[in-house]
Amino acid sequence: MIQLHDLFFEEFISATQISQAVNGVVVRINDDYKGRKPVFLTVLNGAFFFASDIIRKFDGNCEMSFIKVASYKGTQSTGNISTVMGVEPSLKGRDVIIVEDIVDSGNTIEAIIKILQQEEVNSYKIATMFYKPLAFTKNYPIDYVGMEIENDFIVGYGLDYDGLGRNLNTIYKLKPRKMKNIVLFGPPGAGKGTQADVLKEKYNLKHISTGDVFRYNIKNETELGMLAKSFMNKGDLVPDEVTIDMLKTEVDKNVDANGFIFDGFPRTNSQAKALDEFLAEKGEGINGMVALEVAEDLLVARLLKRGETSGRPDDQDESKIRNRFNEYETKTAVLKEYYQEQNKYFGVDGVGSIEDITERLCEVIDGL
Ligand code: IMP
Ligand code: MG
Repeated sequence: MIQLHDLFFEEFISATQISQAVNGVVVRINDDYKGRKPVFLTVLNGAFFFASDIIRKFDGNCEMSFIKVASYKGTQSTGNISTVMGVEPSLKGRDVIIVEDIVDSGNTIEAIIKILQQEEVNSYKIATMFYKPLAFTKNYPIDYVGMEIENDFIVGYGLDYDGLGRNLNTIYKLKPRKMKNIVLFGPPGAGKGTQADVLKEKYNLKHISTGDVFRYNIKNETELGMLAKSFMNKGDLVPDEVTIDMLKTEVDKNVDANGFIFDGFPRTNSQAKALDEFLAEKGEGINGMVALEVAEDLLVARLLKRGETSGRPDDQDESKIRNRFNEYETKTAVLKEYYQEQNKYFGVDGVGSIEDITERLCEVIDGL
Protein backbone atom coordinates (compact mmCIF):
# COMPACT_ATOMS: atom_id res chain seq x y z
CA MET A 1 0.00 0.00 0.00
CA ILE A 2 1.25 3.49 -0.78
CA GLN A 3 0.06 6.94 0.21
CA LEU A 4 -0.18 9.90 -2.17
CA HIS A 5 -1.28 13.12 -0.55
CA ASP A 6 -4.24 12.11 1.64
CA LEU A 7 -5.21 8.91 -0.20
CA PHE A 8 -4.11 5.29 -0.14
CA PHE A 9 -3.50 3.05 -3.12
CA GLU A 10 -2.97 -0.69 -3.48
CA GLU A 11 -1.11 -2.68 -6.13
CA PHE A 12 -3.27 -3.44 -9.12
CA ILE A 13 -1.43 -4.11 -12.41
CA SER A 14 2.17 -5.29 -12.64
CA ALA A 15 4.87 -3.90 -14.90
CA THR A 16 4.87 -7.21 -16.81
CA GLN A 17 1.16 -6.98 -17.50
CA ILE A 18 1.65 -3.41 -18.69
CA SER A 19 4.36 -4.34 -21.15
CA GLN A 20 2.33 -7.24 -22.52
CA ALA A 21 -0.60 -4.90 -23.12
CA VAL A 22 1.71 -2.35 -24.75
CA ASN A 23 3.07 -4.99 -27.09
CA GLY A 24 -0.43 -5.95 -28.12
CA VAL A 25 -1.11 -2.36 -29.17
CA VAL A 26 2.24 -2.05 -30.96
CA VAL A 27 1.61 -5.13 -33.12
CA ARG A 28 -1.72 -3.77 -34.31
CA ILE A 29 -0.43 -0.26 -35.02
CA ASN A 30 2.55 -1.63 -36.96
CA ASP A 31 0.16 -3.70 -39.00
CA ASP A 32 -2.28 -0.89 -39.72
CA TYR A 33 0.32 1.77 -40.58
CA LYS A 34 2.68 -0.27 -42.76
CA GLY A 35 4.33 2.00 -45.33
CA ARG A 36 2.55 5.12 -43.99
CA LYS A 37 4.10 7.97 -42.06
CA PRO A 38 1.77 8.69 -39.14
CA VAL A 39 2.06 11.45 -36.58
CA PHE A 40 1.82 10.25 -33.00
CA LEU A 41 -0.01 12.98 -31.11
CA THR A 42 0.76 12.39 -27.46
CA VAL A 43 -1.58 13.83 -24.85
CA LEU A 44 0.56 15.29 -22.09
CA ASN A 45 1.39 14.75 -19.32
CA GLY A 46 0.07 11.30 -18.51
CA ALA A 47 0.63 9.53 -21.84
CA PHE A 48 4.35 10.13 -22.15
CA PHE A 49 5.43 6.67 -20.87
CA PHE A 50 2.93 4.82 -23.05
CA ALA A 51 3.84 7.02 -26.02
CA SER A 52 7.52 6.43 -25.46
CA ASP A 53 6.96 2.67 -25.28
CA ILE A 54 4.85 2.35 -28.42
CA ILE A 55 6.59 4.92 -30.60
CA ARG A 56 10.01 3.36 -30.03
CA LYS A 57 8.60 0.07 -31.27
CA PHE A 58 7.02 1.55 -34.39
CA ASP A 59 8.38 -0.04 -37.59
CA GLY A 60 9.02 2.63 -40.17
CA ASN A 61 8.98 6.41 -40.30
CA CYS A 62 6.79 8.51 -38.12
CA GLU A 63 6.64 11.94 -36.56
CA MET A 64 5.70 13.14 -33.14
CA SER A 65 3.62 15.96 -31.83
CA PHE A 66 2.23 16.84 -28.43
CA ILE A 67 -0.89 18.38 -27.03
CA LYS A 68 -1.75 19.28 -23.49
CA VAL A 69 -5.26 19.61 -22.16
CA ALA A 70 -6.61 19.67 -18.63
CA SER A 71 -9.83 18.14 -17.36
CA TYR A 72 -9.17 16.27 -14.14
CA LYS A 73 -9.38 17.76 -10.67
CA GLY A 74 -8.20 15.44 -7.90
CA THR A 75 -9.84 12.10 -8.61
CA GLN A 76 -12.79 13.51 -10.59
CA SER A 77 -13.14 14.11 -14.30
CA THR A 78 -14.66 17.46 -15.15
CA GLY A 79 -16.49 18.32 -18.33
CA ASN A 80 -14.44 21.45 -18.88
CA ILE A 81 -11.51 20.79 -21.16
CA SER A 82 -9.01 23.55 -21.66
CA THR A 83 -6.17 23.44 -24.15
CA VAL A 84 -2.95 24.18 -22.31
CA MET A 85 -0.72 23.56 -25.33
CA GLY A 86 -2.09 23.19 -28.87
CA VAL A 87 -0.80 21.23 -31.87
CA GLU A 88 2.19 22.63 -33.68
CA PRO A 89 3.09 22.51 -36.55
CA SER A 90 -0.03 21.97 -38.62
CA LEU A 91 -1.40 18.43 -38.96
CA LYS A 92 -3.31 19.17 -42.14
CA GLY A 93 -3.59 16.10 -44.35
CA ARG A 94 -1.75 13.86 -41.89
CA ASP A 95 -2.62 10.45 -40.46
CA VAL A 96 -2.73 11.05 -36.73
CA ILE A 97 -2.62 8.53 -33.90
CA ILE A 98 -3.78 10.16 -30.68
CA VAL A 99 -1.86 8.60 -27.78
CA GLU A 100 -3.61 8.85 -24.43
CA ASP A 101 -2.90 7.31 -21.03
CA ILE A 102 -6.50 6.64 -20.11
CA VAL A 103 -9.95 7.26 -21.53
CA ASP A 104 -12.49 7.82 -18.80
CA SER A 105 -15.58 9.91 -19.64
CA GLY A 106 -14.16 10.50 -23.11
CA ASN A 107 -14.36 14.30 -22.81
CA THR A 108 -10.65 14.84 -23.34
CA ILE A 109 -10.45 12.84 -26.55
CA GLU A 110 -13.64 14.43 -27.83
CA ALA A 111 -12.08 17.85 -27.44
CA ILE A 112 -8.95 16.67 -29.23
CA ILE A 113 -10.97 15.18 -32.06
CA LYS A 114 -12.60 18.59 -32.59
CA ILE A 115 -9.19 20.18 -32.82
CA LEU A 116 -8.04 17.59 -35.36
CA GLN A 117 -11.14 18.13 -37.47
CA GLN A 118 -10.43 21.85 -37.51
CA GLU A 119 -6.86 21.04 -38.51
CA GLU A 120 -8.26 19.04 -41.44
CA VAL A 121 -6.24 15.91 -40.78
CA ASN A 122 -6.50 13.06 -43.29
CA SER A 123 -7.35 10.46 -40.64
CA TYR A 124 -7.15 9.92 -36.92
CA LYS A 125 -7.17 6.93 -34.63
CA ILE A 126 -7.07 6.67 -30.88
CA ALA A 127 -4.60 4.61 -28.87
CA THR A 128 -4.99 4.49 -25.13
CA MET A 129 -3.20 2.43 -22.51
CA PHE A 130 -6.27 2.20 -20.28
CA TYR A 131 -9.96 2.49 -20.98
CA LYS A 132 -12.87 2.66 -18.55
CA PRO A 133 -15.84 1.45 -20.65
CA LEU A 134 -18.27 1.92 -17.75
CA ALA A 135 -17.36 5.60 -17.46
CA PHE A 136 -17.28 6.30 -21.21
CA THR A 137 -20.18 8.53 -22.27
CA LYS A 138 -19.33 9.10 -25.95
CA ASN A 139 -19.85 7.08 -29.09
CA TYR A 140 -16.67 7.51 -31.12
CA PRO A 141 -14.64 4.31 -31.50
CA ILE A 142 -11.46 3.74 -29.52
CA ASP A 143 -9.16 1.95 -31.90
CA TYR A 144 -6.34 0.62 -29.75
CA VAL A 145 -6.82 -0.23 -26.09
CA GLY A 146 -4.02 -1.60 -23.91
CA MET A 147 -6.30 -2.66 -21.09
CA GLU A 148 -9.87 -2.17 -19.99
CA ILE A 149 -10.46 -1.45 -16.33
CA GLU A 150 -13.48 -0.80 -14.16
CA ASN A 151 -14.24 2.60 -12.72
CA ASP A 152 -11.26 2.58 -10.38
CA PHE A 153 -9.05 5.58 -9.97
CA ILE A 154 -5.51 4.48 -10.79
CA VAL A 155 -2.00 5.91 -10.66
CA GLY A 156 1.36 4.88 -12.10
CA TYR A 157 2.85 4.54 -15.59
CA GLY A 158 2.30 8.24 -16.19
CA LEU A 159 -1.02 8.55 -14.39
CA ASP A 160 -1.17 10.81 -11.38
CA TYR A 161 -3.19 11.89 -8.43
CA ASP A 162 -2.68 15.64 -8.12
CA GLY A 163 0.81 15.44 -9.59
CA LEU A 164 2.04 12.38 -7.72
CA GLY A 165 2.40 8.74 -8.73
CA ARG A 166 3.39 9.15 -12.38
CA ASN A 167 6.80 7.55 -11.87
CA LEU A 168 5.46 4.26 -10.47
CA ASN A 169 6.15 1.18 -12.63
CA THR A 170 3.22 -0.68 -11.19
CA ILE A 171 -0.35 0.53 -11.47
CA TYR A 172 -1.96 1.18 -8.11
CA LYS A 173 -5.65 1.70 -7.54
CA LEU A 174 -7.39 3.83 -4.99
CA LYS A 175 -8.12 1.86 -1.87
CA PRO A 176 -11.65 2.47 -0.75
CA ARG A 177 -11.73 3.71 2.81
CA LYS A 178 -13.95 1.72 5.11
CA MET A 179 -14.54 4.29 7.77
CA LYS A 180 -16.32 7.58 7.94
CA ASN A 181 -14.43 9.68 10.44
CA ILE A 182 -15.79 13.03 11.42
CA VAL A 183 -14.46 15.76 13.60
CA LEU A 184 -17.50 17.46 15.09
CA PHE A 185 -17.19 21.02 16.24
CA GLY A 186 -19.54 23.54 17.64
CA PRO A 187 -19.39 26.37 20.15
CA PRO A 188 -20.75 25.83 23.65
CA GLY A 189 -24.51 25.78 23.52
CA ALA A 190 -24.73 24.88 19.82
CA GLY A 191 -26.27 21.51 20.58
CA LYS A 192 -23.30 19.44 19.57
CA GLY A 193 -23.97 16.68 22.10
CA THR A 194 -27.57 16.27 20.95
CA GLN A 195 -26.52 16.09 17.32
CA ALA A 196 -23.68 13.67 18.04
CA ASP A 197 -26.19 11.31 19.66
CA VAL A 198 -28.42 11.37 16.59
CA LEU A 199 -25.55 11.04 14.12
CA LYS A 200 -23.88 8.11 15.84
CA GLU A 201 -27.14 6.17 15.64
CA LYS A 202 -27.87 7.11 12.07
CA TYR A 203 -24.40 6.28 10.70
CA ASN A 204 -23.49 3.64 13.24
CA LEU A 205 -20.44 5.59 14.34
CA LYS A 206 -18.60 5.48 17.62
CA HIS A 207 -18.80 8.80 19.41
CA ILE A 208 -15.55 9.66 21.12
CA SER A 209 -15.97 12.60 23.43
CA THR A 210 -12.62 13.64 24.84
CA GLY A 211 -14.24 14.77 28.08
CA ASP A 212 -15.85 11.34 28.56
CA VAL A 213 -12.61 9.55 27.70
CA PHE A 214 -10.74 11.60 30.27
CA ARG A 215 -13.32 11.00 32.96
CA TYR A 216 -13.39 7.29 32.18
CA ASN A 217 -9.61 6.92 32.38
CA ILE A 218 -9.34 8.89 35.57
CA LYS A 219 -12.26 7.16 37.23
CA ASN A 220 -10.94 3.72 36.32
CA GLU A 221 -7.41 4.73 37.26
CA THR A 222 -5.92 3.50 34.01
CA GLU A 223 -2.24 4.13 33.48
CA LEU A 224 -3.00 7.02 31.15
CA GLY A 225 -5.66 8.32 33.50
CA MET A 226 -3.21 8.42 36.38
CA LEU A 227 -0.65 10.09 34.19
CA ALA A 228 -3.15 12.75 33.13
CA LYS A 229 -4.16 13.26 36.73
CA SER A 230 -0.58 13.82 37.81
CA PHE A 231 -0.38 16.80 35.47
CA MET A 232 -3.77 18.11 36.50
CA ASN A 233 -2.88 17.86 40.17
CA LYS A 234 0.11 20.09 39.56
CA GLY A 235 -2.17 22.52 37.79
CA ASP A 236 -0.48 21.77 34.46
CA LEU A 237 -2.13 21.13 31.13
CA VAL A 238 -2.21 17.48 30.13
CA PRO A 239 0.37 17.11 27.35
CA ASP A 240 -0.86 16.33 23.84
CA GLU A 241 0.78 12.91 23.80
CA VAL A 242 -1.22 11.73 26.80
CA THR A 243 -4.50 12.91 25.32
CA ILE A 244 -3.62 11.38 21.97
CA ASP A 245 -2.68 8.07 23.56
CA MET A 246 -6.03 7.95 25.33
CA LEU A 247 -7.81 8.60 22.04
CA LYS A 248 -5.75 5.95 20.27
CA THR A 249 -6.68 3.40 22.90
CA GLU A 250 -10.31 4.30 22.41
CA VAL A 251 -10.05 3.93 18.62
CA ASP A 252 -8.21 0.62 18.91
CA LYS A 253 -10.94 -0.70 21.19
CA ASN A 254 -13.42 -0.14 18.36
CA VAL A 255 -11.60 -1.30 15.23
CA ASP A 256 -14.79 -2.74 13.77
CA ALA A 257 -16.65 0.55 13.93
CA ASN A 258 -17.98 2.16 10.76
CA GLY A 259 -16.09 5.22 11.85
CA PHE A 260 -15.78 7.76 14.61
CA ILE A 261 -17.20 11.09 15.63
CA PHE A 262 -14.38 12.93 17.33
CA ASP A 263 -15.77 15.45 19.74
CA GLY A 264 -13.55 17.83 21.65
CA PHE A 265 -10.54 16.57 19.75
CA PRO A 266 -8.35 17.63 18.04
CA ARG A 267 -7.97 21.04 19.65
CA THR A 268 -4.58 22.02 18.30
CA ASN A 269 -2.73 21.76 15.05
CA SER A 270 -0.33 19.20 16.42
CA GLN A 271 -3.22 17.08 17.70
CA ALA A 272 -4.85 17.22 14.27
CA LYS A 273 -1.58 16.12 12.67
CA ALA A 274 -1.14 13.32 15.19
CA LEU A 275 -4.67 12.13 14.51
CA ASP A 276 -4.05 12.13 10.75
CA GLU A 277 -0.85 10.17 11.19
CA PHE A 278 -2.46 7.67 13.52
CA LEU A 279 -5.38 7.06 11.17
CA ALA A 280 -3.03 6.91 8.17
CA GLU A 281 -1.25 3.96 9.75
CA LYS A 282 -4.58 2.16 9.49
CA GLY A 283 -5.20 3.27 5.91
CA GLU A 284 -7.89 5.60 7.20
CA GLY A 285 -8.27 9.33 7.62
CA ILE A 286 -10.59 12.14 8.59
CA ASN A 287 -13.36 12.63 6.06
CA GLY A 288 -14.27 16.04 7.28
CA MET A 289 -14.49 18.57 10.04
CA VAL A 290 -18.14 19.45 10.45
CA ALA A 291 -18.70 22.61 12.45
CA LEU A 292 -21.97 24.01 13.69
CA GLU A 293 -21.93 27.73 13.06
CA VAL A 294 -23.97 29.96 15.31
CA ALA A 295 -23.66 33.73 15.72
CA GLU A 296 -22.22 34.82 19.03
CA ASP A 297 -25.14 36.98 20.16
CA LEU A 298 -27.62 34.21 19.49
CA LEU A 299 -25.58 31.77 21.53
CA VAL A 300 -25.17 34.16 24.40
CA ALA A 301 -28.93 34.65 24.54
CA ARG A 302 -29.48 30.89 24.33
CA LEU A 303 -27.03 30.12 27.13
CA LEU A 304 -28.36 32.88 29.37
CA LYS A 305 -31.81 31.38 28.90
CA ARG A 306 -30.43 27.93 29.73
CA GLY A 307 -28.77 29.43 32.82
CA GLU A 308 -32.12 30.67 34.09
CA THR A 309 -33.40 27.11 34.42
CA SER A 310 -30.25 24.99 34.77
CA GLY A 311 -28.72 27.11 37.47
CA ARG A 312 -25.28 26.48 35.93
CA PRO A 313 -23.28 29.49 37.12
CA ASP A 314 -21.15 29.52 33.97
CA ASP A 315 -24.35 30.00 31.96
CA GLN A 316 -25.47 33.04 33.94
CA ASP A 317 -22.61 35.43 33.47
CA GLU A 318 -22.63 37.07 30.05
CA SER A 319 -18.97 38.02 30.06
CA LYS A 320 -17.97 34.46 30.97
CA ILE A 321 -20.11 33.12 28.16
CA ARG A 322 -18.52 35.53 25.71
CA ASN A 323 -15.11 34.45 26.96
CA ARG A 324 -15.91 30.81 26.31
CA PHE A 325 -17.16 31.69 22.87
CA ASN A 326 -14.04 33.67 22.02
CA GLU A 327 -11.84 30.90 23.27
CA TYR A 328 -13.71 28.50 21.03
CA GLU A 329 -13.40 30.80 18.02
CA THR A 330 -9.68 31.26 18.51
CA LYS A 331 -9.07 27.56 18.93
CA THR A 332 -11.19 26.42 16.03
CA ALA A 333 -9.83 29.09 13.70
CA VAL A 334 -6.53 27.20 13.62
CA LEU A 335 -8.22 23.86 13.04
CA LYS A 336 -10.61 25.29 10.50
CA GLU A 337 -7.57 26.39 8.52
CA TYR A 338 -5.92 22.99 8.95
CA TYR A 339 -8.90 21.13 7.52
CA GLN A 340 -9.68 23.80 4.94
CA GLU A 341 -6.24 23.26 3.43
CA GLN A 342 -7.29 19.66 2.83
CA ASN A 343 -10.73 20.74 1.55
CA LYS A 344 -12.26 19.05 4.55
CA TYR A 345 -13.93 21.88 6.41
CA PHE A 346 -17.71 22.00 6.34
CA GLY A 347 -19.55 24.73 8.17
CA VAL A 348 -23.19 23.98 8.90
CA ASP A 349 -25.77 26.55 9.91
CA GLY A 350 -26.45 25.71 13.56
CA VAL A 351 -29.57 27.87 13.94
CA GLY A 352 -32.98 26.22 13.86
CA SER A 353 -34.78 23.22 15.23
CA ILE A 354 -32.83 20.11 16.24
CA GLU A 355 -34.32 18.23 13.27
CA ASP A 356 -33.43 20.96 10.80
CA ILE A 357 -29.86 21.05 11.99
CA THR A 358 -29.61 17.26 11.88
CA GLU A 359 -30.84 17.35 8.30
CA ARG A 360 -28.18 19.88 7.34
CA LEU A 361 -25.49 17.84 9.05
CA CYS A 362 -26.60 14.66 7.29
CA GLU A 363 -26.49 16.38 3.93
CA VAL A 364 -22.82 17.13 4.52
CA ILE A 365 -21.98 13.76 6.05
CA ASP A 366 -23.68 11.81 3.26
CA GLY A 367 -21.37 13.50 0.81
CA LEU A 368 -18.21 12.68 2.71
P1 IMP B 1 -11.74 11.87 -19.63
O1 IMP B 1 -11.66 13.21 -20.28
O2 IMP B 1 -12.83 11.78 -18.59
O3 IMP B 1 -11.80 10.73 -20.62
O4 IMP B 1 -10.45 11.68 -18.76
C1 IMP B 1 -9.20 11.49 -19.34
C2 IMP B 1 -8.14 12.13 -18.49
O5 IMP B 1 -8.48 12.10 -17.11
C3 IMP B 1 -6.88 11.31 -18.59
O6 IMP B 1 -6.03 11.85 -19.57
C4 IMP B 1 -6.26 11.43 -17.24
O7 IMP B 1 -5.45 12.58 -17.20
C5 IMP B 1 -7.41 11.65 -16.32
N1 IMP B 1 -7.83 10.37 -15.67
C6 IMP B 1 -8.93 9.65 -15.90
N2 IMP B 1 -9.01 8.57 -15.13
C7 IMP B 1 -7.90 8.59 -14.36
C8 IMP B 1 -7.37 7.72 -13.35
O8 IMP B 1 -7.93 6.66 -12.99
N3 IMP B 1 -6.19 8.10 -12.80
C9 IMP B 1 -5.53 9.23 -13.15
N4 IMP B 1 -5.98 10.07 -14.10
C10 IMP B 1 -7.16 9.75 -14.70
MG1 MG C 1 -4.13 12.75 -19.42
